[in-house]
Amino acid sequence: MEDTKIYKIEDVNAQEDEIKKAAEIVKQGGLCAFPTETVYGLGGNGLDPEAAAKIYAAKGRPSDNPLIIHIAEVADLTLYCREIPQEAWKLAEAFWPGPLTMILKKKENVPERTTGGLDTVAVRMPDHPVALALIRASGCPIAAPSANLSGKPSPTKAVHVYEDLRGRIPVILDGGDVTIGIESTIVDLTDGAPKILRPGYISRGDIARVLELQEEERAPGGERIDPAKVDPQAAPKAPGMKYRHYAPKAALYISGGTTEEMTEEILSRAAQAKNEGKKVGILCTEETKPRYMADVVLSVGSRAQERSIAHNLFAALRAFDDSDVDVIFAEALETPQLGEAVMNRLGKAAAAKKEEEKED
Ligand code: TXA
Ligand code: MG
Repeated sequence: MEDTKIYKIEDVNAQEDEIKKAAEIVKQGGLCAFPTETVYGLGGNGLDPEAAAKIYAAKGRPSDNPLIIHIAEVADLTLYCREIPQEAWKLAEAFWPGPLTMILKKKENVPERTTGGLDTVAVRMPDHPVALALIRASGCPIAAPSANLSGKPSPTKAVHVYEDLRGRIPVILDGGDVTIGIESTIVDLTDGAPKILRPGYISRGDIARVLELQEEERAPGGERIDPAKVDPQAAPKAPGMKYRHYAPKAALYISGGTTEEMTEEILSRAAQAKNEGKKVGILCTEETKPRYMADVVLSVGSRAQERSIAHNLFAALRAFDDSDVDVIFAEALETPQLGEAVMNRLGKAAAAKKEEEKED
């Protein structure tokens, strides 16, 4: 199929030509992968239904799973959304550009192909010079899911995009490794009290602080909604939640508890799997790495530096694929600030395989 070009962008101002070439592809209805601060995105014109169709095809993604549109100016919200509540402006002021996506009611010009048939649209202003330059040069909002094949961990490096989408898209803008490493927090502002549909780098507490919410106002019925506990079938508002996600090839099991409980359980599970002739992977942290022996032992970072854990998680899951382990035993990564977002991804990586086994 088509050859995928990689343009390495070190300085957006000095490399206007490459940005323009990529923008030209987007303007013509084509696709371009680009870096954001969270993960790499696979972009196309957010107002063009055909571009949305191409995105779904390239990812192998079901077309009822809606896309996020990326904008480069806060004020552009009014171009694509209606009935924008005060909360949206407050959140935009506090967190944009940045890793927050807001669900708002869409205007007519946003095609249903982009929103998976919904009357709402997900909008985000990313905090990355390459992403912002691409959006500005394209002259349209850019619809972009994470630039991985459907079901695989999101890409945090240009090479991950290349591995997944080589030959399926014309160009990748390589802006180096992303900084955050997990996708944006998604907040739904279309239905009463703001609801978090996907946890991310911006925490529940960050949002509550900006909106000056009292605990009981954070969701209808006085309940705090925990997205990790939302029944995937019963969550039509977050359609992406029902799909297979972040799945390494091997089955993944999480052990929690105290450090002692966790390491003991992992060691005993690993020993048993080894006895069964399996190639064993262990996903751990710097603090515990010396305790483990297995075919592949990967540390995602230090518990004392939670950001390193978020930053390295997806690359670690991909690395297990590369080393062809049969089974992965992972430490629960329940750190104070980012633990909810990280465990949401790790939990899906574990659940995905179980679902598959059920189907087989
Ligand atoms: O950090 C991010 O958000 C990255 C970068 C590229 O911006 N993008 C990303 O996109 O993670 P994606 O498509 O992999 O995840 C978007 C999620 C999906 O779970 C989708 O179901 C949900 O957002 N979503 C999109 N539009 C929605 C809508 N109108 N209502 C509810 N959920 C929506
Ligand atoms: Mg994704």
